Amino acid sequence: MPERRRLAPGVDVPCVGMGTWQTFDVDGSRADIVDNALRAGIELFDSSPMYGRAERVLGAALADRRNEAFVATKIWTRSRKEGKAQAEHALRQFGGRVDLYQVHNLVATDVQLALLEELREQGKVRLVGATHYSPASFGALAQLMRSGRLDAVQVPYNPREREVEREILPLAEELGIGVLVMRPFAQGSLLRRQPAVCDLGALGVETWAQALLKWILSDLRCTCAIPATSKPGRATENARAGEPPWLDSDQRAYVARLAS
Ligand SMILES: NC(=O)c1ccc[n+]([C@@H]2O[C@H](COP(=O)([O-])OP(=O)(O)OC[C@H]3O[C@@H](n4cnc5c(N)ncnc54)[C@H](OP(=O)(O)O)[C@@H]3O)[C@@H](O)[C@H]2O)c1
Repeated sequence: MPERRRLAPGVDVPCVGMGTWQTFDVDGSRADIVDNALRAGIELFDSSPMYGRAERVLGAALADRRNEAFVATKIWTRSRKEGKAQAEHALRQFGGRVDLYQVHNLVATDVQLALLEELREQGKVRLVGATHYSPASFGALAQLMRSGRLDAVQVPYNPREREVEREILPLAEELGIGVLVMRPFAQGSLLRRQPAVCDLGALGVETWAQALLKWILSDLRCTCAIPATSKPGRATENARAGEPPWLDSDQRAYVARLAS
């Protein structure tokens, strides 16, 4: 079972979660993936209205197991009216509450943060956060973190995308802000071309995917990595990377070298 880490005061989550971009934007059901994920100790699922049918498919897959899950989703629009419509839709899918509601890619941050704070006051939202995928926006994200309005941020971090090491991760640690790690496999590209030789045993893992997740989670400033998968068995594989022991600095350097 993945180790539990503190996302916000009084809120602990397993350090391996699951993203839904592309993988849950489907006509059919993803109940098999969600069932496997919950069985493996993955509780946190991340979605967005940007991901087409994903919120609806995730809500249907959770069904009467909603209480076992921690749902993170996002508002993604410039308009307040459309933001409210997105929130009404999400709340319908997720049993009337969202555990972590994030402003997607800092789109209309002031408008949407105010909406999310209202929903939090009404008890429909537990935590409020913001996401961005681009280092060009990390300055704006850091400024928002300093405002005291965010419980958590979501940013990319993997051996090929390490910009968050400069400001975002130190700031999150200093301010006690949770960190969700998007794109742990660089959108799968770190897995499509795997190293010809890798001593997985020396890293205490069985697969290259687990080595990459362990590389991320060995930085204890990361609260939860959220790999996406369309294969039920991979939820189990990914969850197992969330168990200690963690990699030391030599082991991390070895993985980073192989991934580059
Ligand atoms: N701006 C934002 O807020 C933002 C931006 C990007 C992403 N995100 C969030 O972060 C989540 C994760 O990022 P991502 O989906 O871009 O990419 P990712 O998780 O880095 O990579 C996903 C890819 O990895 C493959 N994969 C997963 N586990 C595997 C395993 N054990 N072995 C081999 N292949 C494996 C999947 O293929 P299979 O389906 O074949 O397993 C999929 O193609 C998203 O789903 C989304 O929730 C947020």
